[in-house]
Amino acid sequence: MFDAKEFIEEALAEIRKTVGANKVISACSGGVDSTVTTALVHRAAGDNLIAVFIDDGLRREGEPEFVMRTLKNLGIKARYIDAKAEFFAALKGKTDAEEKRKAFRDKFYKTLGKAAKEEKIGLIAQGTIKADIIETTKGIKSQHNVLSQIGINPEIYGYKILEPLRELFKPDVRKVARELGLPREVSERMPFPGPALSLRVLGEVTPERVAVVRKATEIVEEETRDLGTFQNFAVLHNDKATGIKNGERIYGNIITVRIVDSEDAVKAKARQVPYQILMRIAERITQEIPSVVRCLYDLTNKPPSTIEFE
Ligand code: XMP
Repeated sequence: MFDAKEFIEEALAEIRKTVGANKVISACSGGVDSTVTTALVHRAAGDNLIAVFIDDGLRREGEPEFVMRTLKNLGIKARYIDAKAEFFAALKGKTDAEEKRKAFRDKFYKTLGKAAKEEKIGLIAQGTIKADIIETTKGIKSQHNVLSQIGINPEIYGYKILEPLRELFKPDVRKVARELGLPREVSERMPFPGPALSLRVLGEVTPERVAVVRKATEIVEEETRDLGTFQNFAVLHNDKATGIKNGERIYGNIITVRIVDSEDAVKAKARQVPYQILMRIAERITQEIPSVVRCLYDLTNKPPSTIEFE
């Protein structure tokens, strides 16, 4: 049986030993893994922690503000880094899923490396968990935060890495979050991929296309809040379909809605969502987003599908 209290004591001792009297930087996305990591390092290293939030332009509606507010409420001073234009430049013209993931990862580490250099810090803390390492080393997909396990030396980006959660799976990370007294919005937060909405814009990632999926995501989340499902989201397709808006035929965007139940993301089942909810989502998405003419519901389980489309 996993003992969160015991884990915290051991993690704090390990972090203190690694950090010593030096400084450490932690990038927090607001997800449970990176927030637990940031909170643990803050507890162990106090003011030697420099927390940053990197705004990659790919976050959900209101997320940057949520992260900055959450850290502030935890007594953690965080620096906001606006890297939106740089991420979009890195993703420009890329359409292949793995190429997009790699471009994201590279820009993420360069941005974080630059911040670390400015603060003269040689150590980065990050919330890599066991599942990230397993998926990346198995070649299922390259998680953006796994480097040394796939033979990339983090020192090429100019620093060493501290990963206090590397032996934990998500349910245990949530136990640690509760034990640390983090707010429910963090400890019970729906999983959200590191490369964020870039995985949910099939094809090229542009600010305009991200804005479409961001709005659709907001609608899906609002309408499915009470379902208690594992993940609920929207995906923007790379092809278009014919529709009619304001009495005119248009060739517009297609959105797919995905709502799944899962324990650990290894297997997942498409939820049999009441039809009225699905209809309401489709109506809102096609009415509130001018470019969308068609809204679909994904009925497939994992396997054979994966949860995300990319
Ligand atoms: P799949 O699509 O493989 O997703 O069934 C399983 C779980 O992992 C999340 N996911 C990611 N998380 N970087 C992440 O940090 C990624 O590249 C990535 N791809 C998928 C997904 O949201 C689901 O919870």
